[in-house]
Amino acid sequence: MNTRCAILLIALISGIVLPGAAPECRAQDDFSKQKLRPQFHYTAPKNWLNDVTGLVYHDGEYHLFHDYNPNGREWGTIHWYHAVSKDLLHWEHLGVVLTMKEHGRGGHVYSGSAVADKSNTSGFGKEGQTPLVIIHTINHLDTWDETQNIAYSVDRGRTWTAYQGNPVIKCKYSDNHRDPKVFWYEPDSRWIMVLFENGGIAFYSSPNLKDWTYMSRFNGESGFHECPDMFELPVDGNKNNTRWVVHDAGRNGYMIGQFDGTSFTPDSYATYKLDFGENFYAAQTFSNLPDGRRIQIPWMNGGEYPGMPFNQQFGIPCDLTLRTFAEGIRLCRNPIPELDILREKIKSLEDTTLSPDDNPLEGAKADAFEVIVEIESDGAEEFGIDIGDYWIRYFFADEMLVLQRTEQREYTRLAKPLRPIAGRIKLQVLVDRTSVEIFGNDGRISISTCYVPRNRDENMNASVRIYSKGGNTSLKSLKYNKIKSIWK
Ligand code: FRU
Repeated sequence: MNTRCAILLIALISGIVLPGAAPECRAQDDFSKQKLRPQFHYTAPKNWLNDVTGLVYHDGEYHLFHDYNPNGREWGTIHWYHAVSKDLLHWEHLGVVLTMKEHGRGGHVYSGSAVADKSNTSGFGKEGQTPLVIIHTINHLDTWDETQNIAYSVDRGRTWTAYQGNPVIKCKYSDNHRDPKVFWYEPDSRWIMVLFENGGIAFYSSPNLKDWTYMSRFNGESGFHECPDMFELPVDGNKNNTRWVVHDAGRNGYMIGQFDGTSFTPDSYATYKLDFGENFYAAQTFSNLPDGRRIQIPWMNGGEYPGMPFNQQFGIPCDLTLRTFAEGIRLCRNPIPELDILREKIKSLEDTTLSPDDNPLEGAKADAFEVIVEIESDGAEEFGIDIGDYWIRYFFADEMLVLQRTEQREYTRLAKPLRPIAGRIKLQVLVDRTSVEIFGNDGRISISTCYVPRNRDENMNASVRIYSKGGNTSLKSLKYNKIKSIWK
């Protein structure tokens, strides 16, 4: 038996959850050669992934976990997989951390969250260490019932130990009792858990992450679904005027209201979509971030990657803010400014007129790129960005933003209203080899969509055309940036 196997065996016997870092996970150099490998979005080296879980910042590192099948490219035998980053773009893959066997009867290690227990309320930290604590669901293989469990690390997430007293919350229903999102609630100096429970979300509290007390339940307008997240944000940057946002994996969207430490009271029963694309699900935000940032990463569920060793990708990390619009307060998603380290600035224009025959991006091509425009109509009916496989179209009279597959005639499904702000529309479009993400008016709306590209050259480069139809568009600004590969 080699040393690594011996270490794994001792770890298994003593209840230590596996250290990560399967050696093959570090071989990233040839990922840029895999035609359908996203170049600036998170993917696992191989196999299936789903759900963003356990996002926590600690000691200069962003920790990302996700559901993962170590045994294949489709969903199954779910474990937690761990990666760390210093800039939210380049990730070091550390491997599987929680095994199915750790939990008595055995089970899928389902989604949850992670916290930095800075006051060592759990007592897991020794000699001043801050324990990182994972709170996650086990979906038991024999009966499919679901329990909540914890594991901890005192070495910056490199090794994990399952808590001997698991489960910390026993099964309440035969199913649908999962995905705990935990945060520290400062006013009451205790932990709060938001848990998906049979069509709604339940709130629990705990002094130490081990003992949990049920407090209340919220069903929203038409129920809440799996993978809830909840956080407080200032409105328009005003720290004296805050709201709480609660959302689920995506089926129902988000609501805005107040949380008093025990229960959530919505401002109204209106529910809003987090994103309008076809591939946005189970997004989660980081806990313990400095500077009041609220950074979210979504799973772009349902993408297809034929012939690739991996399956599924994540969306670009976004800063979330609450802003007031004519229609009310809304959650805005904006790609993180860290993206700047990958930008290669190719073209920039200001205050020009785009006539129907112009294409200032003639000749530009890249496999991963970004187009940012600020536009006003100067007689045009429509402004558009043609990225080969998709058109991004803005119809001035209808104030409607449309994402349309080029070979499809019918486009109404991805048509979303976007009102000008001070007469102007701003679009930021991020294109990777297998995805397009559109942010309208600084994140007022976002559209995240995955695709198998068809209109690319042999190096996976796409051409870009911007156009004005039915008259001129006043191009207040245009930026075209290539996005460098994170694998090089
Ligand atoms: C959401 C979900 C979660 C569950 C996980 C299992 O996609 O169904 O509710 O924890 O996937 O992989």
